[in-house]
Amino acid sequence: MEKAMQTNQLPPFIDYLLSKKSVDDRALNLRVWNQFAESLQKRAAVNERLEILEVGGGIGTMLARLLENKALPNCCYTLVDTNAENIAYAQIYLENWAAKAGCRFERVSDGKFRLMQAQRQMEIETICGDIFPLLAAQPAAWDTMIAHAVLDLFHLPSALPRLLDALQPGGLFYTTINYDGLTIFEPPLLPDFETQILARYNQTMDERHTDGLLSGDSRAGRHLFGELQQHGVEILAAGSSDWVIYANNSGYAHNEGVFLQHLLNFIETEMRRQPDIDAGLLERWIATRRQQIAGGELFCIVHQMDYLGMLRALP
Ligand SMILES: C[S@@+](CC[C@H](N)C(=O)[O-])C[C@H]1O[C@@H](n2cnc3c(N)ncnc32)[C@H](O)[C@@H]1O
Repeated sequence: MEKAMQTNQLPPFIDYLLSKKSVDDRALNLRVWNQFAESLQKRAAVNERLEILEVGGGIGTMLARLLENKALPNCCYTLVDTNAENIAYAQIYLENWAAKAGCRFERVSDGKFRLMQAQRQMEIETICGDIFPLLAAQPAAWDTMIAHAVLDLFHLPSALPRLLDALQPGGLFYTTINYDGLTIFEPPLLPDFETQILARYNQTMDERHTDGLLSGDSRAGRHLFGELQQHGVEILAAGSSDWVIYANNSGYAHNEGVFLQHLLNFIETEMRRQPDIDAGLLERWIATRRQQIAGGELFCIVHQMDYLGMLRALP
């Protein structure tokens, strides 16, 4: 039986993450993904049980995706997220996922469970907390680190060394859906105004502060290429992972109109805080874009990048 938390009661951010799953499934760069999956299998052949850490894992959709694609070997998979609602929902989401997928799910203790799939066993732990203090106490602890749709929320030059210190030399770093500064909506609508608000939206990412420190990079996608190498990571694969959302005669796939509504909500909320953005034009722009979603006319592209890297072993 489906576990509680009905879709209509979900907090908006969880609803957004759920609606993002199919958009990300389609967007992830397949070549980078395949190389990651192959690398995991090779490492599993020499390591009895891999220690995998997911940073900012949300409600567990990346873990579900890895399981759906049978990409995980025997492993301990730790998912960390600061948001308590996400972590609480992750356990429900993954238990429901396992029931649908015919995968055995065993609760071990609070926040810990076991998933059995084919001949493989995954020990899962979900932790609610800030990744940085948590990792500071665990140097070189992890064999593999995954950061999906999260690094663009951090200040890369200071966040990357703190993340990478927790990775074993030779460890894998797989980071996906890193925003790279370009959001496109079609058909054209109030083009000058739209250019202004989308540029401002990027700017708000770049100027965001967390605990008094800069956090966020609207061009994380391109910056990661240099930043990763500067911090000792050899790039094994790189490629784009653009979101491409459109409707056909049957509407948006997987109800992705909901995802587009969330995207517009994020932009609207941010723009309402900007005193120099014309409120009347914003109202018109949002209302028309929402109607376009209802009519299946809105087409959206968001440019993002994926990387697979390996932390160089010390000489
Ligand atoms: C855009 S969401 C992506 C979630 C998930 N990776 C997905 O794609 O479904 C970013 C997530 O990172 C989490 N997060 C942000 N800063 C964090 C930190 N310092 N430590 C742990 N999690 C963090 C947020 O709570 C949020 O769930």
